[in-house]
Amino acid sequence: MTQLLSGNSLVDSLEISDDGLTAISMILDERRNFSMSMYKDKCMKRRIAIRMRSCRCHNATEYCNLLQQSEQELDLLKKALTIHVSQFFRNPSMFEKLQTVILPHLFQKAAAERKKLRCYSLGCAGGEEAYSLGIILREYYSRQLLYTPVEICAFDIDSDILHAAARAEYNDDRLKDLSDSFRDRYFAPNGHRMQLSAEIRDMVSFHLHNIMDVATFDPCQLVLCRNTLIYFTRQDQEKILRGIAHILPPGGILVLGKSETVVGEVRQLFATICPVERLYRRL
Ligand SMILES: C[S@@+](CC[C@H](N)C(=O)[O-])C[C@H]1O[C@@H](n2cnc3c(N)ncnc32)[C@H](O)[C@@H]1O
Repeated sequence: MTQLLSGNSLVDSLEISDDGLTAISMILDERRNFSMSMYKDKCMKRRIAIRMRSCRCHNATEYCNLLQQSEQELDLLKKALTIHVSQFFRNPSMFEKLQTVILPHLFQKAAAERKKLRCYSLGCAGGEEAYSLGIILREYYSRQLLYTPVEICAFDIDSDILHAAARAEYNDDRLKDLSDSFRDRYFAPNGHRMQLSAEIRDMVSFHLHNIMDVATFDPCQLVLCRNTLIYFTRQDQEKILRGIAHILPPGGILVLGKSETVVGEVRQLFATICPVERLYRRL
């Protein structure tokens, strides 16, 4: 009968109890120093169920046994829990607002204060978001770059994805929102993939960090934190947002993903610039 169910139904049919989740989480913590406690249980259970299904494990006990024996499965589970979906110019209208409204203001402020402009991509996955910002800066702000140095730092918790981000080779699906002219100018074929030019690669540095510790990062003027908060518990979303508020000076900009919003008391510290694009200004 299960053979006839759709893929999703099979995943749903693998129930993981809270105890099962705790057992898996303890193994991952012990063997990979990776804490699942910050993420929403429902998200974690769903992703674990997908791994269990592909390993043909029928319950959490079987899966724990497998995890105890297999280094490879530990790596695969960790990867599955930190989903890396991204693409260049994801939500193009947000990048348009960034280019036309936000960056002029940030450059003006940085020039007036004779400061460099530091921008962060938190939960950067394969670097698509940080590099998209780099392309905009190179295309539209090359004159300003002569006077105001810009630093783009991208952070993720997964070292493998950061290495891939630094290589900057992408399959076509990651480039589908890219205009033909940007594609021609900034990418070259490399086997069956496309590689980003060194000119843009060199604008971004990648760092292995947990964004739960964002309050300890150096101050910056622009934070892109899109499609990452959504996986965290409400309490940890608030902690991350408090940390971001801490490192953003007044006038600094926060950008969230389309289905994310500023939650908790920290709302008082941000003004909404554009609710549709989830753009906020630090007060
Ligand atoms: C869905 S991707 C978002 C990519 C990009 N920001 C975007 O919107 O296209 C989420 C990323 O957050 C990273 N991530 C998850 N938990 C994290 C944490 N605690 N600290 C840093 N990065 C984290 C994952 O590894 C993953 O690469």
